Amino acid sequence: MENKEIELIVNGKRLDGRGLHDLRPIKIKVGVLEDADGSASVEWGGNKVVAGVYGPRECIPRHMENPYKAIVKCQYMMSTFCSLEEHGRMGPNRRSVEISKVIRQALENVIMVELFPKSQIEVYAIVLQADGGTRISALTAAVAALMDAGIPLRDTVIGVSVGKAGDKLIADLGKMEDNFGQSDVPIAFTNRDKDIVLLQMDGLLTKDELSKIIDLAFRKGEDINQLQRKAIENKYGETVSKRLRIG
Ligand code: CDP
Repeated sequence: MENKEIELIVNGKRLDGRGLHDLRPIKIKVGVLEDADGSASVEWGGNKVVAGVYGPRECIPRHMENPYKAIVKCQYMMSTFCSLEEHGRMGPNRRSVEISKVIRQALENVIMVELFPKSQIEVYAIVLQADGGTRISALTAAVAALMDAGIPLRDTVIGVSVGKAGDKLIADLGKMEDNFGQSDVPIAFTNRDKDIVLLQMDGLLTKDELSKIIDLAFRKGEDINQLQRKAIENKYGETVSKRLRIG
């Protein structure tokens, strides 16, 4: 619920000077880790995330393997130094287990797992610095790292968080908006068909507001898709980025 003490929108501008629908600056880079099969870093506003992908490789433990498809393992984690909040111990907690699961489910919608029976694909994302919207930054890094690993995807996944603060619908919530706004809706969808693969919601919205912010997320997705394409192009050139059909 909105904390009335904090005015998040003043004269149509947000705390960091952005307009209601503006995204924060986003940088995506692939191939940032030596040993991973694929990797990417994402700087999104104050968020800094690094993702590494390993596989497809032998599924361990064996009893988890599926004879028809690869299994996807995903781990999202915050570093101990990513924010002023208490992060004394770096390891899974209730929140990171939930976020790992929703990222995995989003990715399972696009990874062509049926091509790699009995194997596993591991996706790790670590938040080095947190500033609101880390699950979306982590998902964005994970998708870029999967592309860098050359793992076939049916479509790319684009994420952005949208919501409501100061009674206005806004795109790409910063930390204060996320923590103190009226509603926070991280959303991720496929580029071509706009199939929603991740949707969570904190706070309250009317049905009409929800459908408006989903449209807003789809519109903002175009910019993010361009950045994904650019990141691949910077390392592999235009031909590969075109072949990947990422936008
Ligand atoms: O990060 P995201 O917005 O996906 O998730 P959240 O759980 O709604 O958290 C909002 C923000 O609060 C995060 O992005 C961090 O900036 C901060 N946070 C943190 O620093 N440490 C935590 N344990 C949880 C949240």
